Amino acid sequence: MLRMSWTKSESTGELRARCRGRTLSRAVNNEAATMNPSLSPAGRQYVRRWQFPSGTTVTIRPIRPEDQNKMMAFHQTLSLESVYLRYAGILGLSERITHDRLSRLCFIAHGREMALVAETDGAESMAPEIIAVGRLSRLAGTRDGEYSMLVTDRYQRQGLGSEISRRLLDVAHDWRLERIVADVLPQNGTMQRVLRTLGFRLQADGGSVRAIKLLPQ
Ligand SMILES: CC(C)(COP(=O)(O)OP(=O)(O)OC[C@H]1O[C@@H](n2cnc3c(N)ncnc32)[C@H](O)[C@@H]1OP(=O)(O)O)[C@@H](O)C(=O)NCCC(=O)NCCS
Repeated sequence: MLRMSWTKSESTGELRARCRGRTLSRAVNNEAATMNPSLSPAGRQYVRRWQFPSGTTVTIRPIRPEDQNKMMAFHQTLSLESVYLRYAGILGLSERITHDRLSRLCFIAHGREMALVAETDGAESMAPEIIAVGRLSRLAGTRDGEYSMLVTDRYQRQGLGSEISRRLLDVAHDWRLERIVADVLPQNGTMQRVLRTLGFRLQADGGSVRAIKLLPQ
């Protein structure tokens, strides 16, 4: 029987499997920090341009309250498998895109939570799209953080999840966290490899896999 370890976010109320990751940077530059005037100053240092091996560029940036419609569109692109791996099948589309949930998830309590999205530039009449989101949450009363990551299927296994994960490790460092903990489904080999590459130690924990990374102090 599959047993998952779940946590409930204090800020969003969302149940989630704990996962964390990082990736090697193909960061292009930080110029995009000046391209999003609606970003609060607290999040600007986390804005980066990044390039896929194909040459397609995206902006990795903190999520914003006005991203709700883009997040709704993002959720509609996800395969059942990706949803299962991220939410263990417990969150259907209609539940994932409620106004209440999306408005909570698009609002960041700076210093306590960070969600980084990757957004395409938009081209040839295509509007910019959110294609990935990674979230880091500080666990109340500890110097631990938990992290989750979701890349839309079309853009998986091209380095983006690893890149956003590395950016979230930077955030964890800035928050002076001691540990990042992630729980992953045993069959999620891709996420486990991403985590190992980022320096997490993985061990079986009942029906899930627990990944822990100690951060240098
Ligand atoms: C798990 C997940 C977040 C990883 O993100 P990703 O962008 O697919 O991961 P990456 O591309 O950075 O790395 C994954 C693999 O792609 C490989 N890769 C990276 N760049 C590559 C490239 N240019 N060409 C080919 N492969 C590449 C990596 O080496 C890695 O390979 P491996 O699995 O054989 O070691 C993503 O696949 C996802 O959202 N899955 C569904 C939801 C989920 O599982 N979330 C995690 C649970 S919280």
